[in-house]
Amino acid sequence: MRSLFLFPIIWHLALAASVRSIFLFKDVMKSNTTALKTSGFNTLIMFGLGILSNGDIMYYSNTPGNQDVRVGSGGVYVGSDALAQKVRSLKTGETGVTRLEISRNAQNVRNLIMTPGPEPETPFSVAFGRMLGQIGYKYTIAPYTNAQFWLNVKNQLNQGLKEQNWLLDRVYLQCYDGEAYNNPPEWQTFLGLKVVPLIWVINDVKPVYGATAAQARTRLTQWHPQSTLAGGGYWNDYDIEKMGLSYRDYCNVLTSIFP
Ligand SMILES: *[C@@H]1O[C@H](CO)[C@@H](O)[C@H](O)[C@H]1NC(C)=O
Repeated sequence: MRSLFLFPIIWHLALAASVRSIFLFKDVMKSNTTALKTSGFNTLIMFGLGILSNGDIMYYSNTPGNQDVRVGSGGVYVGSDALAQKVRSLKTGETGVTRLEISRNAQNVRNLIMTPGPEPETPFSVAFGRMLGQIGYKYTIAPYTNAQFWLNVKNQLNQGLKEQNWLLDRVYLQCYDGEAYNNPPEWQTFLGLKVVPLIWVINDVKPVYGATAAQARTRLTQWHPQSTLAGGGYWNDYDIEKMGLSYRDYCNVLTSIFP
């Protein structure tokens, strides 16, 4: 958190609104961030951050023509000014975005957290979440299976905290690929926390799991009346641009169901 004074304001806004999110799989230096900021999304989730075995942080481009860059080393930002400005711009200027999340790989985090390590039976996700909480961040998860494990993590991270202070304050649920049959209302009941189902947009990687905006609407409107969802989200911006789809069409679905 950059500013202690800004934080409560951003947080109230975030709490009031339903979640309308999209994963930024495409390199933010290449994607149409104007469209991402102005189509109605309020949460962007940057994908491709990877933690190396020494704790350095890479931003993997995942985008033809762009290179992977080291953005963190020795505890400080070492990426370019252009990238820093681009990321900052997501929540500034003309934008509907009130929350930016960073998604990262797990393996090296597990190793780093476990050496020397927290108390033996604390899952590393709990240790990592607590560390993030200490520096002012929230922690979110995007499970697709193993609900009992995540219930445990959630219970430990939020133990003793009032709802507005929950450290694990959001759950995204993968409802595509092998997880296409995940049922968000069931997960909500099990976890005791509202979830944000994720739907994969039309794509040429696994076309069978791609949903048009109309298909996304159908799925979300089937789940939502069963139990109020926290919002909805998409995997991912790279496919939207590659397949010539419309950010606005997809986001309008979210805006109409989760105003
Ligand atoms: C980016 O999105 C904006 C707003 O939707 C659009 O006007 C513009 O043409 C797009 N830019 C590119 C390079 O596609």
